[in-house]
Amino acid sequence: MNDIFLRACARQPVPRTPVWYMRQAGRYQKEYRAIRERHGILEICRSPELTAEVTRLPVERLGVDAAILFSDIMVPLVALGADVRIEEGVGPVVGEPPDPSRLGPLEPDRDVGYVLEAVSMLVRELDVPLIGFAGAPFTMASYLIEGGPSRSFVRTKQVMLEDPGRWDELMGWLTQVALASLRAQVLAGAHAVQLFDSWAGALGPDDYALHVLQYSRRIFEGLADLGVPRIHFGVGTGGLLELMRDAGADVIGLDWRVPLDAAWDRLGAGVAVQGNLDPAALLGPWEGVEEKTLRILTQAEGRMGHVFNLGHGVLPETDPDALRRLTDLVHERTGVGEEAPT
Ligand code: CP3
Repeated sequence: MNDIFLRACARQPVPRTPVWYMRQAGRYQKEYRAIRERHGILEICRSPELTAEVTRLPVERLGVDAAILFSDIMVPLVALGADVRIEEGVGPVVGEPPDPSRLGPLEPDRDVGYVLEAVSMLVRELDVPLIGFAGAPFTMASYLIEGGPSRSFVRTKQVMLEDPGRWDELMGWLTQVALASLRAQVLAGAHAVQLFDSWAGALGPDDYALHVLQYSRRIFEGLADLGVPRIHFGVGTGGLLELMRDAGADVIGLDWRVPLDAAWDRLGAGVAVQGNLDPAALLGPWEGVEEKTLRILTQAEGRMGHVFNLGHGVLPETDPDALRRLTDLVHERTGVGEEAPT
């Protein structure tokens, strides 16, 4: 197996910088859109065969060094009976807010067996590592409390600040769901895991430290014995990087709002970093993509543990050929025997 992604996560020497893309299986691919014409998103997520097919679609096409399981962060909550729909172009939409004591803990074999089956199938077939994932408690809580996507997260913050008992019950429940789901994915064969706290950047550092960090830390600590790389990602988290590191991940995902070198200086040499090209760069001319990418590679130079990625998911408007060219650029410029990026 091509394991350069795993070696970079462990901050070991690699022959070239590994590349994968968040949302590398998604709407920018015509093959994916063709499958979606016949199947709903949740239908794909509940079918191990379709999940495996969609997960594999971008791997050879883009030349990436890792695959990420195709699913959604809300799938385990749907499986537990939460009133959640997933709407294309919108995101998760929640009706009645779920009652944690009624829905109970996630039992992965009972509740999301199809996900675990997809993982087992994929690890047999792929020649790159498979990344499993879960939504972090804060990000899942925000959908449940807001009822859908939000800009300001006012209601979420209101519960967090005003009703500590309800907040702890909800966050504790979501912590169990994420940890059980990630452990089961690893036991089914996933080689690494990423915890998506996509919307944690809505919080200031004091609130993150007081109301969120402890739950995400429980997840990373609960995975430690499995020995797989643990990635922690959020958007707009430039003010939270040290705290997110303290939650215990091995790799910190960066978005494009922070310069990779300054962020890594703050995080210290004890963690690997993943990122951080603006996904929108790919909508502009190639020269701009190249310039931004070479800057990122220069910023990472001389340190072990860089995983190249976008700062967030691939946008639906992206040309797959540009993504392929990007993978090749990173590989060529960081490959042994190649000139160092200038
Ligand atoms: O192009 C696609 O992504 C199509 C499939 C799709 C997924 N989720 C798969 C997914 C769609 C349309 C959704 C709905 C959804 N759920 C959205 C997007 C709304 C839209 O149409 O633009 C969002 C934001 C959610 C909630 C969600 N799901 C979050 C916050 C995350 C974490 C990653 C992130 O984008 O911040 C997910 C994970 C997710 N949903 C993945 C996939 C394939 C896995 C992560 C990955 O592939 O990188």
